[in-house]
Amino acid sequence: MTAIGIDYGTSNSEVVYFDGQGSTRIKLDPLDPDNDKIRSSVFIYFENDLPAPPKDAIEAKVSLLKSAIMTKLEKAKGDYYGAVDPKEQEIFSRRIDALRAEYHNKPGLQRQAIGLLAREMTIDELPLNRLVETGKFAFGEEGFRRFLATPDKGRFIYSPKNFLGANLDSEQINAFTGIIARQLGYFKYCAEQQLNCPVSKAVIGRPVKFHGTRGAAGNQQAVSIMQNAAAQAGFESVSFLEEPIAAAYHIERTLEQDTTALIVDIGGGTTDICCIQLGPSKVSSTERQADVLSVVGKRLGGMECDKSLVLKAVAPAMGLGLKTQQGLPVPPSYFSDMCAVDNLPVLTRFFSEDYGLEIAQTMSITPNSEELERLMTVHEKKLSARVVNSARMAKELLSSRESITLPLHYIEADFSVTISKSTLANSMQRWLDQVTRLTQECLKNTSTAPEVAMITGGMSLSPIVVESLTTTLLENLPLLPNDAFNSISEGLAIQAYLEYSSNK
Ligand SMILES: Nc1ncnc2c1ncn2[C@@H]1O[C@H](COP(=O)(O)OP(=O)(O)OP(=O)(O)O)[C@@H](O)[C@H]1O
Ligand SMILES: [Mg+2]
Repeated sequence: MTAIGIDYGTSNSEVVYFDGQGSTRIKLDPLDPDNDKIRSSVFIYFENDLPAPPKDAIEAKVSLLKSAIMTKLEKAKGDYYGAVDPKEQEIFSRRIDALRAEYHNKPGLQRQAIGLLAREMTIDELPLNRLVETGKFAFGEEGFRRFLATPDKGRFIYSPKNFLGANLDSEQINAFTGIIARQLGYFKYCAEQQLNCPVSKAVIGRPVKFHGTRGAAGNQQAVSIMQNAAAQAGFESVSFLEEPIAAAYHIERTLEQDTTALIVDIGGGTTDICCIQLGPSKVSSTERQADVLSVVGKRLGGMECDKSLVLKAVAPAMGLGLKTQQGLPVPPSYFSDMCAVDNLPVLTRFFSEDYGLEIAQTMSITPNSEELERLMTVHEKKLSARVVNSARMAKELLSSRESITLPLHYIEADFSVTISKSTLANSMQRWLDQVTRLTQECLKNTSTAPEVAMITGGMSLSPIVVESLTTTLLENLPLLPNDAFNSISEGLAIQAYLEYSSNK
């Protein structure tokens, strides 16, 4: 038996095992073997037909069919009694017998009901929890590729972690628990295969705040979903550690003397920052609460930048900025709603028929409305996740290039937009200000000022981010080396090892 660290991220997840000396990074994505991470998105799909409709829906349909037969039966009886010609009477009598037989043929009615329901039901109508119970799961690159190839065969959950703190009903809670249980189960399986040993415990990373507005309630719900999912996945015990603190434990093992460090973890969904006392003398201790001088976090991750980039660089070519005949702007909310991949109610509304009707009405009163066709295509083909993902790719490429041309052929043949690094920097400005304010808050709360800093998480690969922080708040702090994607999982693995060894 052993224990692993799991960084279950908004965009990517990583799993690491630490044995007290060194660490083993678990390979999670067979289609991306050079990387020690896997996309956190999942595609839940049906290879062939949708599952049989639920029993109560079949029974309700059977009742409807029966009442339709009864109406026909009453009419046939009336016709029988009204008929004078015995031949005519015989015809109606046969019809009455046939209808009676049909009425009492329960298996026949059920078959008919299932056929009708299957025709009425589409993948979009299937409730998420039913999809989770009955669908197949594809993780990482495989899931993304399946989604690209056959989007209407399933549902793509861009980032399950994003929803954990949100206002969910009990069915949605069950659905997300089921989704994450499958992911954690897959991670456990990969670890057990590669370590050749059963894995019973996990230390899972958590952001300081899961949700923007739901505070403690959001955090409690999220942790309880993760806990239940881990239990469903077969872990006997699970504990949580705030993500920047985990990153700190990893870097601590490379330090030669005690120091106070500011750790800034900017991921896909949240930015989490801590100021913590680190040092060689502390590396084997599990009781570190007193060393954490300050910790803050906000739902302020790279996905916000992706959405802002869509609004800045893509939406203007989709009708943002056009004016109606009355001189009113086409509602900018169309485009922010289009990007709401982390807000289930808003996205569902954007994909609804009523929403399509509204866009169509706006098109009819907007001169030169051709660009709005592209918005309409995203609505009709439910392409929001792809658009935001394209912006993510553009943002990542612009970390090493001055300008890129982003192909958007899935919206319209030959449609592409050119984006420069300065456009990206502009679109990120408000977000950067918020990250700066959050860093300031952490610095204000600490009793001892940091002597070194580390910027980690995927967004630390963006020179715009690093420049913005190191030329202002962190100007005089030496930067510690970091691994953008594995610092947190490495730290979680260390914690898993310490907790597991102390409980043995
Ligand atoms: N080369 C790059 N340049 C800029 N941004 C990048 C680069 N590579 C990845 N990112 C961004 O980093 C983010 C993902 O980072 P990371 O994997 O640390 O997040 P996460 O751990 O999944 O999320 P969270 O910790 O918020 O739950 C995404 O927004 C991604 O676009
Ligand atoms: Mg992270």
